Amino acid sequence: MPTLFDPFSLKDVTLRNRIAVSPMCQYSATDGVANDWHAVHLATLARGGAGLVVMEATGVSADGRISPGCLGLWNDDQAAALEPIVAAIVKAGAVPGIQIGHAGRKASANRPWEGDDHIPAGDPRGWEIMSPSAIAFGKGLPRVPREMTKADIEQVKADFVAATIRARDAGFKWLMLHFAHGYLAQCFFSVHANQRTDEYGGSAENRGRFLLETLAAVRKVWPENLPLTARFGVIEFDGRDEETLAEAIGLVKGFKREGLDFLDVSMGFSTPDAQVPWGPALLAETARRVLRETGLPGSSTWNIGPAEQTDRLIREGYIDVAMIGRPLLANPHWPYEAARQLGVEKPAWTLPAPYAHWLERYR
Ligand SMILES: Cc1cc2nc3c(=O)[nH]c(=O)nc-3n(C[C@H](O)[C@H](O)[C@H](O)COP(=O)(O)O)c2cc1C
Repeated sequence: MPTLFDPFSLKDVTLRNRIAVSPMCQYSATDGVANDWHAVHLATLARGGAGLVVMEATGVSADGRISPGCLGLWNDDQAAALEPIVAAIVKAGAVPGIQIGHAGRKASANRPWEGDDHIPAGDPRGWEIMSPSAIAFGKGLPRVPREMTKADIEQVKADFVAATIRARDAGFKWLMLHFAHGYLAQCFFSVHANQRTDEYGGSAENRGRFLLETLAAVRKVWPENLPLTARFGVIEFDGRDEETLAEAIGLVKGFKREGLDFLDVSMGFSTPDAQVPWGPALLAETARRVLRETGLPGSSTWNIGPAEQTDRLIREGYIDVAMIGRPLLANPHWPYEAARQLGVEKPAWTLPAPYAHWLERYR
């Protein structure tokens, strides 16, 4: 079995190790355009040694952003601002990835450190929100979304396609569709958010239709030789987990038929009443089951660090790649520290010379 520091190849892409920077919103853009914050943040993470850097949830449309500070990819200025960041990630030896999504009923929110709640209706900073059904999330996100029409559904799929083309042309080599965490795609799948009576609601097959159609449309424009991946919430911890998992596994098999290359296993976050059993690697068994039953390579996330545990999950075949979030915010050189802790003397990558020289010399 491979270790955390063995390369991972998928289609024409090879990651230098199995450490991926999990997508993390920075809430720091203006009009969806990346700036020096994003450039420094992402280049630092790439220099830190991760094999893959997945850029934050990037809105396929203005109303698809989570907050007014989120990145977007619905116009050419936004794409142009990402190009030098992609180049910096590549120069640092990592593979540049991006997550694209639509926030649905969780859109138009304040930054986490400014309330993490909905911007009130009528406030000029916010916008109208929509979702499969006119059902609010609740708690801090109380606004009732507009129920999407068929035209809305077609428009969002077209927006995903247009954003994919821009991501492709900006040089990204790894595309992650955001089908998780209670945002639009997850809401279609979720019984908590979707009570439609047309072909997009009701049965598991119908609730999966928007996700499948979006993926199929994106596959047509995303290069065949590059990984098409998705982050999908396969469990809600809402008391109907076996049912949700069985439905999710069925849907992921459909994703695979439509051309999905790799799955990131995450949670639904579609209801504020979930009882998530927070703890170390809480999704590991779930991820192993979903990946085994669907035959896809994949990753998972949530409390996977520290390094010894991350390495064990790879060695024991739970996941192929580890999506690491907060540990990398705390220390962008987490991969270097992980290699030291695991006694990997000569990993297939090194720190850039200006750091490596001094750190190795005075070890
Ligand atoms: C600041 C921050 C922003 C995040 N933004 C996103 C995001 O844009 N898309 C996403 O799928 N997950 C997002 N997440 C979740 C992370 O990608 C990751 O899955 C989560 O933090 C669990 O991993 P960890 O325990 O290693 O931090 C975010 C997490 C944090 C801490």
